[in-house]
Amino acid sequence: MNIFNDIQSVRDQVNRWKQDGLTIGFVPTMGNLHDGHLQLVQQAKQHVDRVVVSIFVNPMQFNQANDFSAYPRTLENDIALLDDASVDVLFVPQDDELYPVDQKKTTKVIVPGLSDMLEGECRPGHFTGVTTIVCKLFNIVQPDIVCFGEKDFQQLMLVRRMVAELNMPITILAVATRREADGLAMSSRNNRLDGEQRSKAPVIYQVLTGVYKQIKQGIRDYSRLEQDAVTKLTNSGFVVEYVAIRRSSDLALPVPGDSNLVILTAARLGDIRLIDNIPLSINPDLG
Ligand code: PAF
Repeated sequence: MNIFNDIQSVRDQVNRWKQDGLTIGFVPTMGNLHDGHLQLVQQAKQHVDRVVVSIFVNPMQFNQANDFSAYPRTLENDIALLDDASVDVLFVPQDDELYPVDQKKTTKVIVPGLSDMLEGECRPGHFTGVTTIVCKLFNIVQPDIVCFGEKDFQQLMLVRRMVAELNMPITILAVATRREADGLAMSSRNNRLDGEQRSKAPVIYQVLTGVYKQIKQGIRDYSRLEQDAVTKLTNSGFVVEYVAIRRSSDLALPVPGDSNLVILTAARLGDIRLIDNIPLSINPDLG
């Protein structure tokens, strides 16, 4: 695996591959890799000839300085994992090359509406940071396909919209959330949970699964289901930011006739913020 820290080296390598007629897959990450990331790499490998992974803890998407500084950085271990996974290029950009202009003054990519609800409402500015860095990385790597995890459901939707509305010639592949044996969605943040928090964390998935089953059984009083889920999580020690049952195409409130939904949540254990979701399809004629 080649490791590049500068933009030109990535461009040169990608150009050589393109001249040879090879297709390129890309997996953008912030490092501290786990099996969920490796699954994205495996998916990419199934579709393309060469795979590029980036590791960059993007300051623009952190709305709290302590969250940014506490974000786990495990580059050596990440390199070993990516090497084992036969990734072709790892791009570890330098801050000042990616952000030559002060973040407050630099050009930004904003996906209006979708950026401001749910995660965006709880973390103002977060999604502008995400779409800006993702756009920059796409311009550098120029991939044919990019893999994103469904765990960050809203992020995936934003990236899809950005790609469509900015006419980027890129296919976005969604990869199902990878879970621990007890149901906890894999996340780099899980490493920061202490023993007690780790034993509570799977309750998120249990509660979401409970909501899923009730919707599947035909219950359509979504605000009641959301409120019950908040109560269950709160009683288990979480500080809940939201539980929301939304239409999966645009995260709007579901209306009769909708058949594709998603149940989303964000909840904190101590200062660790966990998110999860379950997409589901329903029979619109029930209820
Ligand atoms: O999902 C992530 O890890 C980040 O938001 C991403 C897409 C790498 C952008 O920094």
